[in-house]
Amino acid sequence: MKIFAHRGYSAKYPENTLAAFEAAAQLPIHGVELDVHLTKDRKLVVIHDESIKRTSNGKGYVKDLTLEQLREYDFGSWFSEEFAGEKIPTLHEVLNVFKETHHRINIELKTDVFIYPMLEELVLKEVASFQYEDRVILSSFDHEAVGKIARLAPDIENAPIFSTMVLNVADYQKTIPAKALHVSLTSAVRSPVLNAIQRGSVVRVWTVNKVEKLDVLKEIGVDGIFTDEPEKMMEYMSSW
Ligand code: G3P
Ligand code: CA
Repeated sequence: MKIFAHRGYSAKYPENTLAAFEAAAQLPIHGVELDVHLTKDRKLVVIHDESIKRTSNGKGYVKDLTLEQLREYDFGSWFSEEFAGEKIPTLHEVLNVFKETHHRINIELKTDVFIYPMLEELVLKEVASFQYEDRVILSSFDHEAVGKIARLAPDIENAPIFSTMVLNVADYQKTIPAKALHVSLTSAVRSPVLNAIQRGSVVRVWTVNKVEKLDVLKEIGVDGIFTDEPEKMMEYMSSW
């Protein structure tokens, strides 16, 4: 079962910062996950929330601020003073961290609250500039965005994200068409997901931070997990 560091190594470093991705890049794990939004001046930045309030010393929505304005804020101190001065990274900067590694990179397109026009095209362009087409997984809670990715880049792995499950998820998958399914931990052990795995769907589960959950996920045939605690998960899995 593959491990993806969720928002970078977010248990020990401020989420979605270069510090969190550089730490994850040192680990022998399968990949990382990150979240992308669009600034007022249409730059791709890596941050989870629509607003910068929770993870910086500023406030306001990413969509209302330019990259230059966003760079003025501190995205590390909220987590620990040790990380004071961490800046919001661009997607380009985060992709660059993995230039010399083999990690897969799951880029989540955060288009489900605010609509960012042409976000899909901009992300694909950035992926192409690194020639990372075989390494990325493009996912979103916005399944229309995933469908658009499937049309624009049919060879790139895509994945709709689910908080709750649709009944016949394997058939639903074909309508997008989606290459993988990213499901919540509570949905993972329910029959629609179990059936989808039995029918050959690649399923990854978010967000798994307790090792007690790992045995059952392995048993049902989950392909990978997203975790804030990659080292803890690695250590547990090493006993399998
Ligand atoms: O992509 C899986 C997971 O990251 C989705 O939830 O809220 O952490 O972006 P969230
Ligand atoms: Ca995410």
